Amino acid sequence: MDKLRSAPAWSALDKLAPLVKRYHMRDMFDKDPERANKYTLKAAGLTLDYSKNRVTEEVLTSLFELAEQRNVKQKIVDMFSGQPINTTEGRAVLHTALRNFSDKPIYVDGENVMPDVNNTLKSVKLFTEKVHSGEHKGYTGKPIKTVVSIGIGGSFLGPKIVSESLKPYWVDGIKTYFVANVDGCHIQDVLAQVDAEQTLFVMSSKSFSTQETLQNTLTAKAWFLEQGPEQKDIAKHFVAVSSNVKAAVDFGMAKENVFPMGDWVGGRYSLWSAIGLPISLTIGYDHFEALLKGAYDMDCHFQEAPFENNMPVIMAMLGVWYRNFMGAQSHALLPYYHYLRGFPAYVQQLDMESNGKSTTLDGRTVDYGTGPIIWGSEGTNGQHSFYQLIHQSNLPIPVDFLFPLKVPNQNDTHHNMLASNCFGQAQALMQGKTFEECLEDLSGSSLSEPEKLSLAAHKTMPGNHPSNMLLFEEVTPHSLGALIALYEHKVLVQGCIWGLNSFDQWGVELGKVLGNDVFDMIEGEMSLDSVDASTAKLIKHFINNQ
Ligand code: F6P
Repeated sequence: MDKLRSAPAWSALDKLAPLVKRYHMRDMFDKDPERANKYTLKAAGLTLDYSKNRVTEEVLTSLFELAEQRNVKQKIVDMFSGQPINTTEGRAVLHTALRNFSDKPIYVDGENVMPDVNNTLKSVKLFTEKVHSGEHKGYTGKPIKTVVSIGIGGSFLGPKIVSESLKPYWVDGIKTYFVANVDGCHIQDVLAQVDAEQTLFVMSSKSFSTQETLQNTLTAKAWFLEQGPEQKDIAKHFVAVSSNVKAAVDFGMAKENVFPMGDWVGGRYSLWSAIGLPISLTIGYDHFEALLKGAYDMDCHFQEAPFENNMPVIMAMLGVWYRNFMGAQSHALLPYYHYLRGFPAYVQQLDMESNGKSTTLDGRTVDYGTGPIIWGSEGTNGQHSFYQLIHQSNLPIPVDFLFPLKVPNQNDTHHNMLASNCFGQAQALMQGKTFEECLEDLSGSSLSEPEKLSLAAHKTMPGNHPSNMLLFEEVTPHSLGALIALYEHKVLVQGCIWGLNSFDQWGVELGKVLGNDVFDMIEGEMSLDSVDASTAKLIKHFINNQ
């Protein structure tokens, strides 16, 4: 039997699931008036109410036992101490070193990485200050007022979503654009809005080999030179972030304009490194540091709190419960804050690129569910679109609501309405509406009895849909840092339960290789003989109809 399935706590959970499926959360709340208090905890400035989950004390105990039996504690120690837990690439996984505010050294291959981490932070700080003070000038002597960040995947989503979420912190006079897609419409749209004299391009690529980022940078450079400056002016307007400094220099970046990062930082975990430069340029270095501090506070909580009070562990194990025992295949994220609207897309990469796998660390194919589909969008918009399916389809979909108690410069009525929608939806998902209640509502109508019975059946909402409620005092750099670290650690714990390497992404690589071959075929530099008939036909059709 598979190692995970043979864990004693797995069998206990397997037995509990059919029983718990018969319970309704409404009854659980009726029976236990303390349920909301019991299942609420605070960490690093965030509050999690997980009382609206389909769990009993026994289920939670077994889930924490499963975490023990799968050696989650050791995995946490190994990650924070720089063990090469990314086994397929032989690398440490040390995004936590990038926000290590303790004075503890962290070693990779016997070398303390903290001096390099701190030096890079210093150079990010210095450069940010030079740009903001106007000391760093464009080629005509004017200050920088626009930043164009070019990168994709983790070199895009983290900086973009953090910058977008912290709009109230934007530095006056700086506007940042993010370009990711190789679709030329994106870069052309952005270039049409900026002024070469006052624009700084930040090219972010850990590997410095990603097709989209290289091509968009070449296009930006060509456009820049067309506006009048000379080759020598490029150094004032183009900087890069990469762990491959040599490739960046070979590409034409001035060495002093390349901000380095360690290869022990995964792309989707890299916003805390120099990849965060566009964040620092957008919100200021002090706020960037507060973001790191928020993540560090969550790191401390994650390492120190016992499992039953550990926010990332609780969220991870609830996810395991739904994915492996209650039939869920997806998990929705519903932020009730316009500026956090991109957060589901951020977690989509973080979670699905990490745990969207089915081979275990020791090379076996799993026979259990692993990473769920992550999706979602901002409330209240989603209420008028896909919430219908969550309420009344027969697909079990656990959700996370995210809500800030305070918002900057906002009209109270709007915020009260936002709160009422968020809390009301969580309540509706949990309690539903019975057939009898729906029939009762129709008692005074002029419908016939059969019509009432039929309509009541359509209106019936089963309820019993689980949700977490994550509350922020306010979305600040600190609380956002804590939130992102919370989801990072949730992913680590789940990957550990499922026996996966959460830090490689081999599935993405094949597409990149084949995409490059197809490009050569389209450009006439490679014959079509090696591809299947369908792909060859598509390529020919494209060439003939361009
Ligand atoms: O999409 C796959 C991926 O490898 C991500 O993990 C990474 O964040 C992204 O590509 C970009 O890679 P790079 O920063 O090396 O350009």
